[in-house]
Amino acid sequence: MSKKTMTLTDNATGRTAELPVHKGTAGPEVVDITRLYRDMGVFTFDPGFVATGSCRSSITYIDGDAGKLWYRGYPIEQLAEKSNYLEIAYLLLYGDLPVRQELENFENIIRHHTMINETLKSFFDGFHYNAHPMAIMVGVVGSLSAFYHDSIDIHNPRHREISAHRMIAKMPTIAAASYKHNIGEPFIYPRNDLDYCANFLSMMFATPCEPYEPDPIAVKAVNLLFILHADHEQNASTSTVRLAGSSQANPFACIASGIASLWGPAHGGANEAVLDMLRQIGDVSNIDKYILKAKDPDDPFRLMGFGHRVYKNHDPRATIIRQICHEVLENIADTDNPMFELALRLEQVALEDEYFVERKLYPNVDFYSGIIYQALNIPATMFTVMFAIARTVGWVAHWMEMMDDPDQRIGRPRQIYTGAPQRDYVPLDKR
Ligand code: SDX
Repeated sequence: MSKKTMTLTDNATGRTAELPVHKGTAGPEVVDITRLYRDMGVFTFDPGFVATGSCRSSITYIDGDAGKLWYRGYPIEQLAEKSNYLEIAYLLLYGDLPVRQELENFENIIRHHTMINETLKSFFDGFHYNAHPMAIMVGVVGSLSAFYHDSIDIHNPRHREISAHRMIAKMPTIAAASYKHNIGEPFIYPRNDLDYCANFLSMMFATPCEPYEPDPIAVKAVNLLFILHADHEQNASTSTVRLAGSSQANPFACIASGIASLWGPAHGGANEAVLDMLRQIGDVSNIDKYILKAKDPDDPFRLMGFGHRVYKNHDPRATIIRQICHEVLENIADTDNPMFELALRLEQVALEDEYFVERKLYPNVDFYSGIIYQALNIPATMFTVMFAIARTVGWVAHWMEMMDDPDQRIGRPRQIYTGAPQRDYVPLDKR
């Protein structure tokens, strides 16, 4: 690391601290405040961690101003065009693109972990039929640690790897089972003759009554969407997985915490919220009214699928997804999909409005994805589940990176205390 430093001076006392400055492969320099409290007796304060780096990571790089996204150095545009989800999963887990034999071995391992313990199926019966699938996902994934005692010694690298493979392999099975529970249809077992995304669609839409072959356009669309959602640096749910993992909790509990965090409409829940918003707007004639609501600081309405903590330029994923939208709607759904037309017009109006331009609010990954899922007959309640399936490899890759870090320690932020000063207890009859 560089020897560059920054000097912090307390003008009141003249006390100073020389803070090391580090520089990564790309991105802004960082000021290392590890010794700040020891040298200066102060904390830093950064609600929402707008300018705070939590770790070193070599998995994903984002340049929010330039609209860049790299997985292990490869630009997302190239990966979306040329790769597939399991190859990306290998890349994120192991750091390099696999050679043919490595990829075949990895695909075979994942394929043979896709079934879930048969007794786990009765767990779903504990949920009411109309339970939100994300509620089922949080519960079922969290319960996996009760089924895999044989491989959750988190200090054993081989156990960590097996858990990572199990998570990646079983998420589509659990997700599809959540959907089947919702619609009252029998669970469909994984098929080893199908690839990862085709297998997921089969478990979602096949029935025991007739043969089912997934539409290749749908398989390609799901594959692309999973690639685009696979990882995204230290987003809220990944940071949640890292914080949970820092206490040395088991990997299944950590991934369940990531699913819970992703569910929020400010994060992965936004894709479901976008469709609700488009339904609420209803028609292009209402767009101006809702743009005014989104701009009104006293109105809680926000343009869901717009804005991003990091991207202050186009989210490169949204640009790619909008293109997939055109292809899916032309080939699968009715071309004049009113939701898509409404979304396109809404984006156009917003990007011409000073409020959004000034705040650099662009469509994010969640703005168009729901329109594609809807065209694939995936219900809105499953949109964030789709996000969770794809993001599982990012969560486990970050968890493994953190567990491999010799400097790993429990995450424990501090605070500014704004409560009552010290005071003495007052007996009940004197209050
Ligand atoms: C994801 O972090 C990641 O990488 C996440 C993600 C990933 O792959 O993991 O990319 C996935 O979560 C994408 C984001 C999905 N969420 C939404 O689409 C929900 C709508 N967006 C907003 O809630 C918001 O933009 C956030 C949560 C995404 C970002 O919030 P920030 O960075 O804390 O920004 P902010 O709320 O402080 O907004 C800055 C200004 C504010 O106005 P002022 O107070 O300056 O006047 O922009 C306004 C906000 O009111 N604003 C919006 C808006 N988003 C921000 N106004 C209207 N509509 C919006 N969508």
